[in-house]
Order: sequence, then structure tokens, then C-alpha cells
Amino acid sequence: MNILVLHGPNLNLLGTREPEVYGSMTLDDINTRLSDYAKLYGATLRIVQSNHEGALIDALHEARGWAEGVIFNPGGYTHTSVALRDAVSAVEIPTIEVHLSNVHAREDFRHKSLIAPVCMGQICGLGWIGYQLALEALLAREEN
Ligand code: DQA
Repeated sequence: MNILVLHGPNLNLLGTREPEVYGSMTLDDINTRLSDYAKLYGATLRIVQSNHEGALIDALHEARGWAEGVIFNPGGYTHTSVALRDAVSAVEIPTIEVHLSNVHAREDFRHKSLIAPVCMGQICGLGWIGYQLALEALLAREEN
């Protein structure tokens, strides 16, 4: 199974960015753990991080040719981006939205995701393991 792992804005700063909220792991640490886990199940990951909305949209469009699932942390764009929602909806690839923090326990503006309604599901508040759970869910879906 081929999976796009898409990390949105500011996630390149993980490790030093508000560690009390997002944990102390860097994005490389998360990607390494996820890649190791994917290998166990014979899944192939392509991992992209961008701080730019258009680049995230391009990555989703490009995934149409090869990805059977997307794990997407849209960062702050979660709460603002109609364009990213439209892209997720347009490419019709099963997508799971992941957040490290529990967005529902934070500021009101984080309670609303424009993207979750066009996703298979949303995982939040579980830290890096949320990515692994999203991968498991995509793999389980493939089996059914
Ligand atoms: C985040 C939550 C968002 O509200 C925030 O803007 C982020 C990170 C998370 O992983 O918890 O950048 O997506």
C-alpha cells in the first residue's frame, strides 16, 4: 500500500515548538518511527512537509496517480483552508486527519476543522502515535 504522509505549516519546527503542547519529538523522529512501522506491514510512505498551502494542494493532486491513502496533519490550515478541503475532496483518496494536540481542548478557533468532514476520520490529542494509528486504520481499510 502506498501512502502519502503530508505535514503542514510549522510542523518542521517540532521538537522546539511549544514542546509542552506538541511533545519533544522532531518531525524526523516521527517520520522515522512511522517509516519503521510501515516497513513491518510492507507499506510504502512518501513524506512531504510544506509551510505553503499551494504546495500541500499540489502534493495532494500529485498523489492521485499512486497513493491509496493519505495521512494529513494540515496544521493551522485545518481551521482556515477551504482550498485544502476542496483538494482532499477532489482527489478522492481516503484521508485521515491527524493532530498531535487535542484541538478540542484548546482555543475555540481550533475546535472547527474545515477538512475533517471530507476525511475518513480524525485522530487528535494522542501525540505522534496518532500517525501510527492512522496508518493502521488505512491498512485495515485496505484489507476489508
Ligand atoms: C496541530 C493543531 C493545529 O491547531 C495547529 O495549528 C498546528 C498543529 C496539531 O498537530 O496539534 O500547527 O495540527
